[in-house]
Amino acid sequence: MLFTKDDFGDDFKWGVSTAAYQIEGAHNIDGKGLSIWDTFSQKKKKIFNNHNGNTACDFYTHYADDIALLYKLNIPNYRFSISWSRILPHGIGAVNIKGIDFYNKVIDFCLELGIEPWITLYHWDLPQELQQKGGWANREIINWFSYFVDCCIKNFGDRVKRWMVLNEPMVFTGAGYFLGVHAPGKKGLSSFLAAAHHAALCQAEGGRIIKTLRSDCKVGTTFSYSHVEPYRTGNEKDLKAALKVDALLNRMFIEPLLGLGYPTKDLKILERIERFMYPHDEKKLKFDMDFTGLQNYTREIVSHAPLMPFVKAKIIKASKRNVQHTLMDWEIHPPSIYNALKRYSSYQQIKEIIVTENGAAFTDAHEEGMVNDSERVKYLQDYIAQVLLAKKEGVKVNGYFVWTLMDNFEWAEGFYPRFGLVYVDFATQQRVVKNSGRWYSQFLKNTVPASM
Ligand code: FCB
Repeated sequence: MLFTKDDFGDDFKWGVSTAAYQIEGAHNIDGKGLSIWDTFSQKKKKIFNNHNGNTACDFYTHYADDIALLYKLNIPNYRFSISWSRILPHGIGAVNIKGIDFYNKVIDFCLELGIEPWITLYHWDLPQELQQKGGWANREIINWFSYFVDCCIKNFGDRVKRWMVLNEPMVFTGAGYFLGVHAPGKKGLSSFLAAAHHAALCQAEGGRIIKTLRSDCKVGTTFSYSHVEPYRTGNEKDLKAALKVDALLNRMFIEPLLGLGYPTKDLKILERIERFMYPHDEKKLKFDMDFTGLQNYTREIVSHAPLMPFVKAKIIKASKRNVQHTLMDWEIHPPSIYNALKRYSSYQQIKEIIVTENGAAFTDAHEEGMVNDSERVKYLQDYIAQVLLAKKEGVKVNGYFVWTLMDNFEWAEGFYPRFGLVYVDFATQQRVVKNSGRWYSQFLKNTVPASM
């Protein structure tokens, strides 16, 4: 069956997403302070091939060409993040005017071309000076973060009407404060639970600040969501393991925001978060977002694993299961996004869902000005078709953003996995639109249908 953009309705928001550290480069230019990713990526063996984002796509220099490219590709919405330490080099206190100028130029140029800017306040690059004081594990983060939000809204809120408070709190607290594989490289349950609780408080507090300063802005926040299924269907132990992993990966941040509290019933270990709770925190965790950003790439298959600490469960990687997967070893499984949307729509409190990230990394070959990434074209079509299916069944999904505009620094995996609709030659900073970029552009122009 064929479908077109029209099937989603006129009001559906189509776009692409990026994040500051992954594209901007200019990590120590024009007064920018260092972030935890600037320091983490300098450490040996933390990032694939010891890559770092010092230059990345040098969006700091090339922003005008890149935004012009968005325009050329008919992409009407652009989600990007603000580097906290670019505008506040010390995290709080003095403002770096050149940093503010940069984002003003980005925002104004988007608007000039009729592209709506969507800003993520925090996409993982905490100012290093704040990390020195404990970062997300220090409750003071609520004040530091409030200061940053206030600064962004006062400077940009007159023109930017769509805001997302955090990007995937589960990933930055889990990978950064529990597993130690992302910045700041901390490990252990205690630092994780503290960081997680403070992030959950900040996501609500950020929302409150934005609405107080500018009631005309729409506020949301984003969550990673991977549909979780048991390895052996019908096996009691695997089923229990799946429930726990689901509580951890998919429910831990959204449920307190919705006023449901932490999912301690299905994941006992979360009871230990109480140690970090102050009186009235439960109330403070709640905030009524205008929209919810859902980010989905894959599903997770989980089995019982008695030796695994805390959850007694393990995720079985796609390559071990012999199923189709991307370069991230994430299973290609389009119904995952449908399941994710259905799950979110079962939360009555959610008003509007926007898919703020979806995409795939493949080995892209650049040959004679062409990148024939047919696997990505198929991936996008298949996932978008599932979004349509969910929408037709009444799910309040009203937007879809591809991760990502152009190949960039993929965190611990460095420059190895390429996710872009646009190929980047990192040696020359040359951009080459991939076939997936052409396809998305034509789909958005309504000149080609997609197949279901
Ligand atoms: C998400 C992140 C984004 C990008 C994609 C592949 O978890 O939000 O920055 O790395 O994964």
